[in-house]
Amino acid sequence: MLKSELRRLIREKKGQFTQQQLCELSLPIVGRIKPMLKDAKTIVAYYSLPDEVDTHGFIDQLLADGKTVYLPKVISNEEMVLCRYTGAESLSLGAFGIMEPVGRQIAADEVIDAVLVPGMAFDGDGNRLGRGKGYYDRFLKSLSHPRPQLIGVCFDFQKVDMVPTASTDVRVDVVV
Ligand SMILES: Nc1ncnc2c1ncn2[C@@H]1O[C@H](COP(=O)(O)OP(=O)(O)OP(=O)(O)O)[C@@H](O)[C@H]1O
Ligand SMILES: [Mg+2]
Repeated sequence: MLKSELRRLIREKKGQFTQQQLCELSLPIVGRIKPMLKDAKTIVAYYSLPDEVDTHGFIDQLLADGKTVYLPKVISNEEMVLCRYTGAESLSLGAFGIMEPVGRQIAADEVIDAVLVPGMAFDGDGNRLGRGKGYYDRFLKSLSHPRPQLIGVCFDFQKVDMVPTASTDVRVDVVV
């Protein structure tokens, strides 16, 4: 199956749920992520779009728990950088309709413990299908040592037998 076909299939499946239903389906998923981040101090999360596993409340919980949270900010057609998240009031609308932090950019030597990686689909080997622009692949590849734990986040209906891959696709370590 082509990446584009799988994206279409997943978009169709998402369309069968209301926004409210997707929010409810998100709760047990973030419930599974939480214990995985117990020892993580610095976490790269994503600020969910309406059709993604809802992370809004969860990210604020992480802050309240004393974690340091970074979110992606798109700065060009190819690159996203990480900026510190300090609360929902300090977000502004960025590219692709995604809310982005206005906080300072991460220091080059800052150690990231875990990355929550959104995806259109994941398979059992951690292969990931994104939205097709390669932002996460380039970002994940750029992460230096020590390599953070990469946690793929999706609804159960986005887990498939096999994701088509190319050599530039970065696998995640675990899918929740
Ligand atoms: N490390 C890289 N260097 C150069 N090009 C890359 C790299 N990673 C991905 N790309 C390119 O980006 C384009 C989109 O990649 P792909 O189809 O894997 O997107 P995606 O993983 O679905 O999207 P995203 O990562 O944004 O969610 C492809 O043309 C791919 O070759
Ligand atoms: Mg990819």
